[in-house]
Amino acid sequence: MYQAAVFIHLASAIIWIGGSLFLALVLIPVLRRFTPPPGRTPAPTGGPPPSGPPPGMLAAVARRFRVISWVCIVLLVATGLYILPTRYGIGFGEFFSLGGHFVGTLQVKVVLVAIVIWLSFIHDFILGPYVNRLLEAVQSGGAPHPRLSLLRRTIIWVARINLALTVIIVIVAVTMTRGAPV
Ligand code: HEM
Repeated sequence: MYQAAVFIHLASAIIWIGGSLFLALVLIPVLRRFTPPPGRTPAPTGGPPPSGPPPGMLAAVARRFRVISWVCIVLLVATGLYILPTRYGIGFGEFFSLGGHFVGTLQVKVVLVAIVIWLSFIHDFILGPYVNRLLEAVQSGGAPHPRLSLLRRTIIWVARINLALTVIIVIVAVTMTRGAPV
């Protein structure tokens, strides 16, 4: 059972972080390259195809990945909380103690996880859908919201900071179980 829990823990981390990196480093830059700036038609030859990506494609991708990433978050927290008492004998009391390297790094990890969950919630359920609604209004001919570009930059930075924090969580997790490098 312990091995199964660790497998699910690691598989969830891989799928969540791998998927987020794929979106940030591959899909979004490529879609951006194929999306003509407003008011300009794409080059007829050699460059991007005249039509560009279908409108709403990125929002549809984001909505689908949102389900996958929240399933992974729930599985990470559930398996982590299962492993702690069953394998390491760490319950509520031990977690809040000054209990050496493992507990110390675990505390750092759990604080980072809480920040990441909070930022993901804001990104996925508040800012993301709001900015998407504003963009859809522009696409259907409405005037852009005065703070649209600020909101877009904010959401991009929330996503970047969140991704950086998840990578840091992996580093903290490895030092937690395997010790700090000497
Ligand atoms: C409250 C949430 C979490 C708790 C309580 C928790 C707890 C744990 C525990 C107890 C282990 C040791 C497993 C073992 O015996 O090998 C572990 C390993 C690990 N965790 Fe978490 N975890 C949590 C969230 C996360 C998140 C969000 C990530 C990724 C972003 C993550 C990534 C990892 C990795 C990569 C390892 C393997 C480290 C290694 O084997 O060297 N964990 N976690």
